[in-house]
Amino acid sequence: MIDKVINFPAEPAGLYDPLRYMMDISGKRIRPTLCLLAHGLYGAAPGPDVLKPAAALEVFHNFTLIHDDIMDRSPLRRGVPTVWKKWNEDTAILSGDVMLIEAYKLIVNAPSHCRRAVLDLFSTTAGQVCEGQQYDMEFEGKESVGMEEYNNMIGLKTAVLLACSAKMGGLLAGAADSDCEALYRYGYYLGMAFQVADDYLDAYGDEKVFGKPIGGDIINGKKSWLTIRALEKTTDRAAFLSAFGKECSTQEQKQAKIARIKSMYDALGVDTEARAEVVRYSDLALEALKDLQVDVSPLRDFADRLVGRAK
Ligand code: IPE
Ligand code: IPE
Ligand code: MG
Ligand code: MG
Ligand code: MG
Repeated sequence: MIDKVINFPAEPAGLYDPLRYMMDISGKRIRPTLCLLAHGLYGAAPGPDVLKPAAALEVFHNFTLIHDDIMDRSPLRRGVPTVWKKWNEDTAILSGDVMLIEAYKLIVNAPSHCRRAVLDLFSTTAGQVCEGQQYDMEFEGKESVGMEEYNNMIGLKTAVLLACSAKMGGLLAGAADSDCEALYRYGYYLGMAFQVADDYLDAYGDEKVFGKPIGGDIINGKKSWLTIRALEKTTDRAAFLSAFGKECSTQEQKQAKIARIKSMYDALGVDTEARAEVVRYSDLALEALKDLQVDVSPLRDFADRLVGRAK
């Protein structure tokens, strides 16, 4: 539904084709779906003044992915080459930049009763995502990162956008402030669950379903939930850090490192704990909905689907 309201300029094709490519390889569309589900709780059918801001969330998300894939040196997304791999880094930077502008061109279509609030929410969130991405990169080079720092980082890089998406649905529907805040909390905890699940799948997923290379976080030295928890639990921190910091260049070395780290995760049981953490966050998301006066079952079902995700 949201794809119908997105229309990127034709020329120069070298600038806009990567945007079309990124949208056409079609991700899960979680953020606009969340926005439209939240909006739908209040009964009104969505017109273009709702669909366009919802689409802005997806366009913005795809912009962050184009740049994230350069930063993470990631060759594959949604089962196909990433923009910097298919074209080059310069293209990925500039096409990403213009994609952010395209997101703003969509968001200003929000109805006048909430336009200012929607724009403020969106801009604040966009800035926070950059802050989270900065921490994510800084943590790669930091030996010791605590769970609290990790939670703050994923809160910024991932959870605030889901929070923004849910709240925006409320704002667009003219919902009461207290409902909008509850929707924000729901989206935030769902986003936390979502990123812990992403970290888990990065090591334990099936590449064909997940669409991203398995073990990328381990090779990049990312402080994922699994790493942080392993460092909390291990009795031999030096051994873990030495295996985690091991340089590798060939495919064989990379696969050996991934297998070694995963066997350490397995031995510590952090894979099982990560799955439990996803459920814990999802429960907190559902808890946030309890004071809403509308039927929240669509958001309950949505959270259930996300908890069970494999991609
Ligand atoms: C990937 O988001 C980035 C994270 C926040 C983990 P999604 O898993 O929603 O990506 P797509 O859009 O469905 O590919
Ligand atoms: C993504 O985190 C967060 C943003 C894109 C802002 P990841 O780096 O874990 O996302 P994937 O795994 O590449 O999708
Ligand atoms: Mg990243
Ligand atoms: Mg990445
Ligand atoms: Mg990831």
